[in-house]
Amino acid sequence: VIARRRRSRAASLAEAARGRITARRRLCALVTGAASGVGKAFAAMLADKGHDLVLVDIRGEELSDVAGALEQAHAVGVKALQRDLSDPAAPADIVATVRELGMEIDLLVNNAGLIIDGAFLQSPWVQQRAYQQVLALTPAELIHRLLPGMLERGFGQVVNVGSVGGLMPSTPFTTLYGPCKSHLIILTRTLQAEYGRAGITFSVCCPGAVTGTRILEYSRSGQAWSKLSFLASSAEEVAEKAYAAVQRGTTVRLVGPSPYGVSVIGRLVPADAFSRALAWLVIRSTGQQPIEQRHGAAATDASAGVSSG
Ligand SMILES: NC(=O)c1ccc[n+]([C@@H]2O[C@H](COP(=O)([O-])OP(=O)(O)OC[C@H]3O[C@@H](n4cnc5c(N)ncnc54)[C@H](OP(=O)(O)O)[C@@H]3O)[C@@H](O)[C@H]2O)c1
Repeated sequence: VIARRRRSRAASLAEAARGRITARRRLCALVTGAASGVGKAFAAMLADKGHDLVLVDIRGEELSDVAGALEQAHAVGVKALQRDLSDPAAPADIVATVRELGMEIDLLVNNAGLIIDGAFLQSPWVQQRAYQQVLALTPAELIHRLLPGMLERGFGQVVNVGSVGGLMPSTPFTTLYGPCKSHLIILTRTLQAEYGRAGITFSVCCPGAVTGTRILEYSRSGQAWSKLSFLASSAEEVAEKAYAAVQRGTTVRLVGPSPYGVSVIGRLVPADAFSRALAWLVIRSTGQQPIEQRHGAAATDASAGVSSG
């Protein structure tokens, strides 16, 4: 009862702070990975709800097209920032640019993502490091840099786009995808526990396969998932459910049937057995090569026919 009272007091203080902000300007959202898929759908939905936008993506031309179209269709301001989020300097640079533009971010959508197919050694470390930077470190740093302003204003919302991969015990052959997405899930819960009573709402949405996205179209694992189209959600559905979740204060929101299925299986089947079954499934469905000991020596990156370093 005490916890519930505290939560509702925090919610009404945040609502009042939101009212003070909207009395002097429109709410402003920063969306990463906004040139395509879920991020593009999020940007369109938020423009429709009257948010000013700062959109970030590595694809400058597509991003400018998205920003131009939204500004024309809605009476909101949209800034497009072409940035490579695998660059460790990007978060500081983005936040400095936002400040120079005289904007304050009320809603952060950490959405940009990619998938690297193949076993761990099949990509050089520099690529694996960049993968983690985009999926895990950049989102955390953007929160770290934008949270102080939100706290000062007494209102803020953070949506992290996770994945069914973060709910699985392992993600074989997209190695670091699962660890990074489960980092996002735990980070979201942790920040909600730390800052929820200060008027900030953190939410992570975990979709299964999402149609109309480059990830689904171009990765081997995505193509395997897209064969199970009945399990997929649209980018618009993911954006709407993720936004509704942060509005309601839902910390972890599953979207589509597969995350629910994975959660149930995870409760019934021991993690190691589930993990072995996942590896078997991925090998069968994507044609990845199992890595086995050959001629008495452990398979290495060289014996797998790839380079590293
Ligand atoms: N698609 C799915 O089935 C699915 C399922 C579960 C979760 N998700 C999550 O949903 C989120 C959005 O992905 P999506 O499905 O909408 O895929 P998408 O259509 O590929 O959109 C992701 C956008 O992020 C951009 N991006 C990737 N790396 C970047 C970088 N280093 N710097 C800046 N921008 C970068 C991509 O550019 P490029 O095209 O150049 O890479 C692309 O424009 C991701 O976090 C993903 O993990 C997707």
